Amino acid sequence: MTVSMFDVIPDNLAEIVTKVRRHDQAYWQRIGGMPDFTGKRVLDFGCGIGTLMLDMLEAGAAEVFGLDIAQNRLDEARMRLGSHVQAGKVTLLCGELAKFARTLPKFDVIVTKDTIEHVAGLDQVLPMLARLLKPGGLFLIGTSPLYYSPFGDHGFVTGYRWPWLHVLKGKPAVLAAINRLNGTEFQTLEAAGLNGLAPRDYLRAIDFCYCDIMLLEINPGTGLKGLACQALGWCAALPGLGRYAVVSLYAVLRHRD
Ligand SMILES: C[S@@+](CC[C@H](N)C(=O)[O-])C[C@H]1O[C@@H](n2cnc3c(N)ncnc32)[C@H](O)[C@@H]1O
Repeated sequence: MTVSMFDVIPDNLAEIVTKVRRHDQAYWQRIGGMPDFTGKRVLDFGCGIGTLMLDMLEAGAAEVFGLDIAQNRLDEARMRLGSHVQAGKVTLLCGELAKFARTLPKFDVIVTKDTIEHVAGLDQVLPMLARLLKPGGLFLIGTSPLYYSPFGDHGFVTGYRWPWLHVLKGKPAVLAAINRLNGTEFQTLEAAGLNGLAPRDYLRAIDFCYCDIMLLEINPGTGLKGLACQALGWCAALPGLGRYAVVSLYAVLRHRD
C-alpha cells in the first residue's frame, strides 16, 4: 500500500519535538508575535502532533481545532493535549479540508505552519480556509521550504543532499527518487506530498483569499542560516531567479469585514 510521507512517526520523536518547538517559536516571531488568543476559536491547518495547538491553548484559546491528513500524528496530538482534550477544548479532524469545510464553524484565527508546501490546489485550499474566518479574523501562514528553493525537495524523502539538485534533475526524476527511496508508487509529485509550486503561485492563492495582507515576509531568519536565507532573498528580486531564491514565506492576512 502506498502511504504518505507523513504516515510514519519516526523513532527519534523526542529529538524531532525539540526541533519542532524551536521552529514553533520562530514561527510566532516571524508572523510578528502571537496574537491575543484569549477566548478565541482557532484552527491549525496541518496541525501534525499538535505543538502549536498547545501554545494557543496555553495562551488562553477557548477552542482549538486541528486538521491533518495523518491519523497517527493526530493520535500523538491527542496524547500531548491530554488535559485540554478532557476539558473539551480540542477537536481533531483527519482528512482533506474539503471534507470538513461545510460543517466547520467560523474561526477567529487560522494558523498553518510548514504544511502548505505539501498541499496541491492552493488556489482552492487557501480561499477555502479564508472563508472559514469570521469578519476581521486572522490567517497566519508560514511555509518552508518552497519547492524551487535549495532544499525544496525535503531531501529526506528523495535522498538528495545537494542544493537545487532536484531542480536540475526535474520533477519526473524527483518522483522516481521518492518512490525508490520509500518503496512507494506515487503517480504524481503532488500525491507524494510536494506541491511543486513557485512563490508566485502562493502569492496568487493569497490574493484569492478576500483578505488584507498585514504582513508578508520572504526568507526571514536569524543566525548564520538566517543570513544565508536573507542573502538568497535579495536574489529573489533578480529577473528569472525569484523562484530559486524564495525559501520561506510568512504572511498575516486579515479577513475583510
Ligand atoms: C512538516 S509537517 C508540519 C506539522 C506542524 N504544522 C508543525 O509545524 O509541526 C506537515 C503536516 O502537514 C500535514 N499535511 C500534509 N498535507 C496535508 C493536507 N492536504 N491537509 C492537511 N494536512 C496536510 C502532514 O500530515 C503533516 O502533519
